[in-house]
Amino acid sequence: MSPSRWFWILMLSLTASPAVGNDGPIPNVVLAVHGGLGESPGVLTKDEERAVIAVIETALRTGRQVLVEKQGSALDAVEAAIRVLEDDPQFNAGKGAVFTSDGRNELDASIMDGRDRKAGAVAGVTTVKNPIRAARAVMEKTRHVLLVSKGAEEFAQAAGLEIVDPSYFRTERRWKELEERRRKEQTQPQSRLDPSGFVPGADPGRHWSTVGAVARDREGHLAAGTSTGGMSYKRYGRVGDSPIIGAGTFADDRTCAVSCTGHGEFFIRWQVASDISAQIEYRQVDVRQAVDTVINGKLKPVKGEGGCIALDREGRFAAATNSDSLWRGWITAEGKVVVKLYPE
Ligand code: GLY
Repeated sequence: MSPSRWFWILMLSLTASPAVGNDGPIPNVVLAVHGGLGESPGVLTKDEERAVIAVIETALRTGRQVLVEKQGSALDAVEAAIRVLEDDPQFNAGKGAVFTSDGRNELDASIMDGRDRKAGAVAGVTTVKNPIRAARAVMEKTRHVLLVSKGAEEFAQAAGLEIVDPSYFRTERRWKELEERRRKEQTQPQSRLDPSGFVPGADPGRHWSTVGAVARDREGHLAAGTSTGGMSYKRYGRVGDSPIIGAGTFADDRTCAVSCTGHGEFFIRWQVASDISAQIEYRQVDVRQAVDTVINGKLKPVKGEGGCIALDREGRFAAATNSDSLWRGWITAEGKVVVKLYPE
């Protein structure tokens, strides 16, 4: 073969859409969750990895119990699974959330019902123990989709949700990360160059371990939800993609349910979750092709780091990441659980 032919074969193999970082389509899945981009391979000890896997399994089994044993709805399962992850400090949602640059925990969450595209979300809350519950209450008890900060907190309290002191969300691990980041900013104030506060490759505590869930119930209805503390060292008042319907969360019974994680500014600008649904609706591709097209085909070239999980109307699951991790797991109707932390 001529050298020029070898050159073109090499170029094609380098530019082809990578299979690495994708799962699926995996059939017969009733619930899937993610714990965000998490840590890069080699950062966590084996014991720490086992601890993350154990919580993801608990979230999956809790959600499946709601779906299969209690015959609950996809929405019930999504909420139940996300509450498990919000209550565990290993994830950047609820307790254990990252800090803003001025040392607060500001939480965002959303939920969407695939039956009728009803949706609810909260952003910038500091006292609501489980933001995913508040998001659902916004959807079910108001005429609105998104409530923010004090208005969302007062609504959550009036709705009877558990309210905590802001110190509930604080963990020493995240506080140390904030201090380290503040030290770095004094010596290398790079974040001034980037209004998102993101410093590529220079953020040891990037922690996009946002959490999310997608579910399909016995009637074939889909739901999706996402909850996060946002980006480490974000400006106070910054809102990411997680509470933005169509960006971090989307569900439509005709296509799929999606929950995303990653650099929220990109997920908002590329409308990632609704684009994945649109890929299925308009291009009639399968769920794996849909997540790959958006996460690897669209976000990767613009350096929008992140990933997502998706479940289609037939119960086929897919996930994609263009990063070096995506904590994720899925469970079938029969209770078979798979958890993975890194791309394969
Ligand atoms: N994806 C989470 C955030 O950017 O806030």
